[in-house]
Amino acid sequence: MSEARMTLPDLTPRIVVGISGASGAAYGRRILEVLRDTPIETHLVISKAGRLTISQELEVPPAEIEELADVVHANHDVGATISSGSYRTLGMIVAPCSVKSMSEIASGVTSSLLARAADVTLKERRRLVLMVRETPLHRNHLRAMADLSELGAVIAPPVPALYAHPATIEEMVDHTVGRVLDLFDIEAGFAERWPGIRSDMRSGGER
Ligand SMILES: Cc1cc2nc3c(=O)[nH]c(=O)nc-3n(C[C@H](O)[C@H](O)[C@H](O)COP(=O)(O)O)c2cc1C
Repeated sequence: MSEARMTLPDLTPRIVVGISGASGAAYGRRILEVLRDTPIETHLVISKAGRLTISQELEVPPAEIEELADVVHANHDVGATISSGSYRTLGMIVAPCSVKSMSEIASGVTSSLLARAADVTLKERRRLVLMVRETPLHRNHLRAMADLSELGAVIAPPVPALYAHPATIEEMVDHTVGRVLDLFDIEAGFAERWPGIRSDMRSGGER
């Protein structure tokens, strides 16, 4: 009779980062930069349109963004580790998330690795954060967001918080990235915590 073998579970903390073709590749880049300084292993998948927006907005080749990740997957590689629920991850952030990718994830029709990995994250009840970027939004966009939210995804559009008085785009991006990483209990160190409104502002200027 063969002996039952006990193996220790693979507890490597991993986060999947997807960069799709919405405006805001800077968010994905910053998330990878922050996670590089943590013990978390990052798995990156960039869509074809994401490659375009990286070149257009960040003015760097996508390879430069890929260098920030521990593991890089091709978007057509639906056989990659992250396409299976058996591969343990803490969850996934799509930063930014286009309405096309969001709609694919909401429908469950996942023909790319980015969408498949997000679908797996949902079905395994792991944390899925979608930084959906589009404006204005029509009914079907809003319905897809509501569906995803009901399934447990966090819809986190990259909307700047002007109360933080960002002086640069980098500060705006950092604030939003800090809030997104909060969702994974990761302290980025630059999400300024709201100290409560100053007492002299409480009246809102009313006399
Ligand atoms: C420069 C640029 C900016 C874009 N910005 C957005 C955007 O903010 N939101 C969006 O949903 N789509 C945007 N698109 C369109 C998407 O890239 C397009 O719908 C694409 O098919 C998305 O594919 P993906 O989800 O596989 O990345 C943009 C395209 C380009 C070239």
